[in-house]
Amino acid sequence: MRYSLNLLLSALLLLSLPCATLAQSTPPVLVDKVTSATPLHDGVEVHTTSGIVRITAQRDDILRIRIAASTALPEDASWAVLPASRTHTVDVQPQQDDVSVGFRTAALDLRVERDPLRIVVRDLQGNVLSADAPGRPSRFEHGGFTVYKQMAEGQHFFGLGDKTGNFDRYKQAYTLWNTDTGVQDWSDPIYKSIPFFLTTTAGRSSGLFLDNTWRTWFDFGKQARDAYAFGAEGGPLDYYFIAGPTPKQVVLGYIYLTGTPPLPPLWSLGFQQSRYSYTPESQLRQVADRLRADKIPADALYLDIDYQYRNRPFTVDPQTFPNFPGLVSDLAKQNFHLVTITDLHIAHVPDAGYAPYDSGHAGDHFIKRADGSEYVGVVWPGPAVFPDFTRQQTRAWWGNLYTEFVKDGVAGFWNDMNEPSVFDGPGFTMPIDNIHRIDEPGFATRTATHAEIHNILGMQNERATYDGLLRLRPNERPFVLTRATFAGGQRYGFTWTGDNNSTYGQLRLATQMLINLGLSGISFVGDDIGGFGGSANADLLTRWVEIGAFNPLFRDHSTKGSMPQELWVHGPEQEAIRRRYVELRYRLMPYVYTLAEEASRTGLPMVRPTFLEFPNDFDGMETEFFFGRSFLVVPPPFAEMPEDFIVSFPKAGWYDFWTGHRVVSDAPPVAANIVAVANAAAAGVAESTFPQPMKLHPQLDTLPVYVREGSIIPMQPLVQSTNETPNGPLELRVYPGEACAGSLYLDDGHTLNYQHGDLLRQGFSCTVSGDTVTVGFAARQGTYKPWWKSMEVVVYNWNHSKATATLSGSSTVLKTRYDAQAHALHVSLPDVAQAAELHLQ
Ligand code: NOJ
Repeated sequence: MRYSLNLLLSALLLLSLPCATLAQSTPPVLVDKVTSATPLHDGVEVHTTSGIVRITAQRDDILRIRIAASTALPEDASWAVLPASRTHTVDVQPQQDDVSVGFRTAALDLRVERDPLRIVVRDLQGNVLSADAPGRPSRFEHGGFTVYKQMAEGQHFFGLGDKTGNFDRYKQAYTLWNTDTGVQDWSDPIYKSIPFFLTTTAGRSSGLFLDNTWRTWFDFGKQARDAYAFGAEGGPLDYYFIAGPTPKQVVLGYIYLTGTPPLPPLWSLGFQQSRYSYTPESQLRQVADRLRADKIPADALYLDIDYQYRNRPFTVDPQTFPNFPGLVSDLAKQNFHLVTITDLHIAHVPDAGYAPYDSGHAGDHFIKRADGSEYVGVVWPGPAVFPDFTRQQTRAWWGNLYTEFVKDGVAGFWNDMNEPSVFDGPGFTMPIDNIHRIDEPGFATRTATHAEIHNILGMQNERATYDGLLRLRPNERPFVLTRATFAGGQRYGFTWTGDNNSTYGQLRLATQMLINLGLSGISFVGDDIGGFGGSANADLLTRWVEIGAFNPLFRDHSTKGSMPQELWVHGPEQEAIRRRYVELRYRLMPYVYTLAEEASRTGLPMVRPTFLEFPNDFDGMETEFFFGRSFLVVPPPFAEMPEDFIVSFPKAGWYDFWTGHRVVSDAPPVAANIVAVANAAAAGVAESTFPQPMKLHPQLDTLPVYVREGSIIPMQPLVQSTNETPNGPLELRVYPGEACAGSLYLDDGHTLNYQHGDLLRQGFSCTVSGDTVTVGFAARQGTYKPWWKSMEVVVYNWNHSKATATLSGSSTVLKTRYDAQAHALHVSLPDVAQAAELHLQ
C-alpha cells in the first residue's frame, strides 16, 4: 500500500513537471543507420535503427522525403500541398550498392548512404544538389525534430515569405509562428508562415518545402558555419526537395505542389485608398469626391473596423453609417469598389441578438479550450470567440455571414487579425492547448491542438471567405485580402505585409518582403503605401507611391492618429508627381493585367528579383526589382540621401522607359564596372552588348525604370477607374532587341466567363533586319471583344524620320509620325486581330 502511494505521488510529481524537464531526460532519437531497404516503383523505403524513411519521386525533379521515429509514417494529409501533387508519383530506376541505396529519375540521382545514414541528391552529372550534413543525423527530440543539411560558403537563401531582416537569408535564423507584430527592420516571427525556401550555390538552385504546420524554424548558418538546419516542435517530418537548376524552375516546382492563385478582378489592380478608419460615412464620401475632383485614378476604397457597431464583425454602425446600402451604391456610381474589413473574432455577446455569435454558437463552430468550453479571448470587440476554420461546415457557415454585405454590393473583403491575434492571450494569441476539431476531406476526422493548427488558421479563414464569396456570387471573382497565411495561401487571394512604418528603411524593406513573398508562391502582394505607423513626410510618400505603382496590390493605408496620408496631403507639387505614377499604372493596365493573368496561370510572381530573370545575377538585388519580365525598377537604395547611386544592369540591352532611349554605357567607369566587364569577358559576352553599371543622381520626380530590349508593352489611354472604357487606340510599345516578344490578355475583368473562352489573347513579336523592323501579330484567340478600334505601334530606337509602314496583305501605306526626341516611330493602324506583319522601312 505504502509503495503504490509513493508511486502515485511520484507519477503526480512527474506530471506536474514542465515538459522541458521531462524531455531533457529523454535522449534524442537519431536517424543514423540503414538497417534494410525496399525499392518502390516510385522511390525507396528505408528502415533505420530508429524508424522509417520513405522517399518518393513526385516528379522527375521533385522528391518527397518522409521520416518517422516509429515503424509507420504518420497521417498523410496536407493543408498546403494539392492532393494531386501529393499523390501523383513517377516510376524510378532503383539503384543500390554496399554503400547506399536509392534511385534515379530522368533528372535526379538519390542515394541514402547506409552508415552513417545520409540523404544525398545529385543531378545526373553528379553535382550534389542537397545532402545531409556529415556527422549531423536528423534527430527527433522534445516531440519535434531537426534536420541538418550541408551548406557552402556564401550559399544564397531566399523565401520563407515576407520575413524581415536581410533579403538573402544566409547566416540568419527564423521562427515560423504567425504573430501579430509590427513590421520592424528585424521582427521575427511575423504574420505569415511559409516553410519554403529557395537556395542557390555554384550556379544551381533548388528548393525545400517543409510541409509542417507546427511552429517551425530555419537556421541558414547562423549557428553552424557549414550546415543549415530546420525543424519543428511537433508534427510530421515531411519535406519536398525541388530541383532547378534555375530559380524560376524552383518557383514553378513549388507552385506545382501548392497551387496557383486565382485571377483577380481587374479593379483590384487599380489604385486603392484605405485608412484606419474613414468614419463617419461623410469622410469616406469626401475621399471619394476628392479623388475624382483631383483626377487621381482609383478603384477601391476601404472601411476599417470603425464602420462596425462596437467593432463587431458583420455589423454596421447605424449612427455613423445610417444608410450603408446607399453609400455602397453611390460609391459604385463614382466607379469605386468598396472593401470592408471582417475580422475572424466574433464578439462574445450571447443573447444580445448578434446573429454571428448566436448562429455560430448554435452550430458549435467555435474553437474550444482544453476543457471543452468555448474559448473566449479579448480582441477589438472585447471578449470574442473564434471560428474553427479546420471544419468544412464552419467554413461554410462563415461564408454565409457575407450574404447581406454581398447583397449590398460590397466588392471585396479584408481578413485581418487572423494569426489569430488575441490581446489577452499568451504570446498575443490563443493557448496552444486549445482544441480544434478537424473535419476536412483528406484528413482523419480528429481533434488537434492549436499548436498544430495555429499557422494555418489565417489561411483557412481566407479560404472560407473566398469559397463563401464564390458560393454567394458564383460567376464573380472574389477579392480577399488576408494578413496571416500559410504555404498555399496564394490559392485564395491577396496578402499584404502588415503594420509597417513610415520610414525610408521600411520602404526599402518593403520591396524585399514583396520579392520574397513572390518567390514563396504568393504573387498578389502589397504593403501599406506610405507606411502604416507614424506619418510619412512628403518625399517619402511620393517615393512610396512611385514604387507602389509597380507592385501588384497598390494600396495606401495608415493608422489612426497618424497624419492623413491621401495623395493630396502635401500640396499640389507632390500630388502632381504622385498622380503621374498612378496614371502610369492605369496606362500600363493592359501590361499589368496580362502579367496578373500569367501569375494566375503559372504562379510566377509579378514582382521578381533580378536572379529570377537572369539566373545567378545577384548584383543590385537588394533594391532593384523586375515587374514582369520587361520592367526593371531601380529605386534609389537610400531614397532619403542626395548621393548618387549605381544601377547594375542585368546582362541584356536596356531602354530608359522615360526617354525611350537605349541605354548606352558611357565612361567614366564606376568601380562596379570593372567587375561587370570581367564577368562579361568570363561569360564570353562582348562588353559592348550590354550597359555597364551606371551612376544616377536621385530625383524625386523620377523613379528610374528600364525596359528590357525585346519587349513589347501594351498600354491604354488614361482612365480614372478600370470601370471606364478607355477611349482611343491600344498602344504597343516595341523595344527592339534579342528575343523580341510581348503578349496581351484581356477579358471582362470580373466574371469567370474567361474559363469558357470569353477572353482575348494575342502574341506579338519583332525582328530587325538591316533597316527594316517587322512587328508580328499572332492571330487573336478567344471570343472577348476588345474596347479599341485601332492600334498605335511605337517602335523605339528608330533613328531617322523617314519611314514607310505597310501591313501584310495590304498595299495601303500607314500613317506614321516620328518623335525625334524619343527616337520613336509611331504608326497608326487598324485593329489587327488576324496573323499579320507590320513592315517598317
Ligand atoms: C491591424 C491591421 O494590420 C491594420 O491594417 C488595420 O488598420 C488595423 N488592424 C485595424 O483594423
